[in-house]
Amino acid sequence: MKIKKFLLSESDIPKQWYNIAADLPSPMQPPMGPDGNPIKPEMLSPVFPDNLIEQEMSRERWIDIPPEVRELLAIWRPTPLIRASRLEAHLKTPARIYYKDESVSPAGSHKPNSAVPQAWYNKKFGIKKLTTETGAGQWGSALAFATSLLGLECKVFMVRISFDQKPFRKTLMQVWGAKCIASPSSETRTGREILKKMPDTPGSLGIAISEAIEEAVSDKTGKTRYTLGSVLNHVLLHQTIIGLEAKKQLTLAGEKKPDVVIGCAGGGSNFAGISFPFVCDKIHGGKIEIYPVESTTCPKMTRGPFAYDHGDTARMTPLLPMYTLGHTFIPPPIHAGGLRYHGMAPLVSQCIVEGLITPRSYDQLKCYDAALVWARTEGTVCAPETSHAIACVIDEANKAKKEGKEKVILFNYSGHGLLDLAGYEKYMAGHLKEIRLSDSELCESLEVIKDFPKVKKARTGKW
Ligand SMILES: Cc1ncc(COP(=O)(O)O)c(C=O)c1O
Repeated sequence: MKIKKFLLSESDIPKQWYNIAADLPSPMQPPMGPDGNPIKPEMLSPVFPDNLIEQEMSRERWIDIPPEVRELLAIWRPTPLIRASRLEAHLKTPARIYYKDESVSPAGSHKPNSAVPQAWYNKKFGIKKLTTETGAGQWGSALAFATSLLGLECKVFMVRISFDQKPFRKTLMQVWGAKCIASPSSETRTGREILKKMPDTPGSLGIAISEAIEEAVSDKTGKTRYTLGSVLNHVLLHQTIIGLEAKKQLTLAGEKKPDVVIGCAGGGSNFAGISFPFVCDKIHGGKIEIYPVESTTCPKMTRGPFAYDHGDTARMTPLLPMYTLGHTFIPPPIHAGGLRYHGMAPLVSQCIVEGLITPRSYDQLKCYDAALVWARTEGTVCAPETSHAIACVIDEANKAKKEGKEKVILFNYSGHGLLDLAGYEKYMAGHLKEIRLSDSELCESLEVIKDFPKVKKARTGKW
């Protein structure tokens, strides 16, 4: 019998996270304050606990995972590496396709990999309550799960369109004891102002982030902090556990290295999680093609500029160097809610600038098509976000077939879609359409950043 799953034991859960900031060939541009000067760590203190700010700023290559955090991660980790042999046979490709199955976590995605350590570090710092935003509901439910493990209070601002499309995600958060409200809400000044101007807005991650930060910093007791489910360095750091495990598992499968690594990218933590340990190999001479995949409806990496921009609509976050569509951009209401974010993580953005990774974008129809092929071959129903990676995997497997090459393709199966069936239903009924954004729409949304400080594009020219 051919081996399908490559499994590790609990003692194989990595003991350290990998910090790519230590290996980037060109320096990262610093986050900027409103005065146009680089921000100081203490300026982030009202929003994040000091121990996570330290991780955010760290340039150490390896950061220890506390034993208590490893014990909590062991609830579902290590996750399996699975060979997509039935998809390979269906496509008649010589490529060997492997996927890391992050859908086995309690919340059903990669998000608990960072939710658990973030909740743990906050608790260690004496924090009692966490606030956050969520798009598709995956991050909100992951944080609800993590705070329930650690006995913290949790309040989640869920983007309106997902709140309506995915009511069971809200229920899941409530099951774990969190409070979940639709954003924009009337509970914050930001939310009230936006609702006054746009009462029917589907919302955006940028708006929900502003609300969650406002709620955290306005707690006079000082015992509330904000958590972010992607974008920031420490979130990407926590997710590298995926790629580190995958490396060991590929060796178990008899593979020397992957030729192609793929992950869908909303704010970038999922993609960074699977790919950064391999980007490190590429920096040190490895020959690997690495693709972050976004939605054509929110095409910051493929059509946006690399520029300084805020991470949220109300401009509460520092200016971050990133590929962006402008902080007020409201993406069309696609079902892949986790990909509806206007900016890309600074670390992922710097890898694009350096030429180490090559972004791709896919339309939702092609992605649902890929999701059905996947369900009817490998058997599982993927999250709409994950379908973007699968569409790219299928293209790469077909390319390998055309070229007659035995490539090894690795991708992250970032989440299951069992609470996203409404999107599948609409697709199968023919109610979804291709959404095209015009150049003038994108240009208009970039107006808001035109007076911000200009960012330097630092690259060695090696890739
Ligand atoms: C299943 C799934 N995959 C991928 C993503 C994108 O995540 P990231 O922001 O880490 O890029 C999300 C975001 O919510 C998600 O829910």
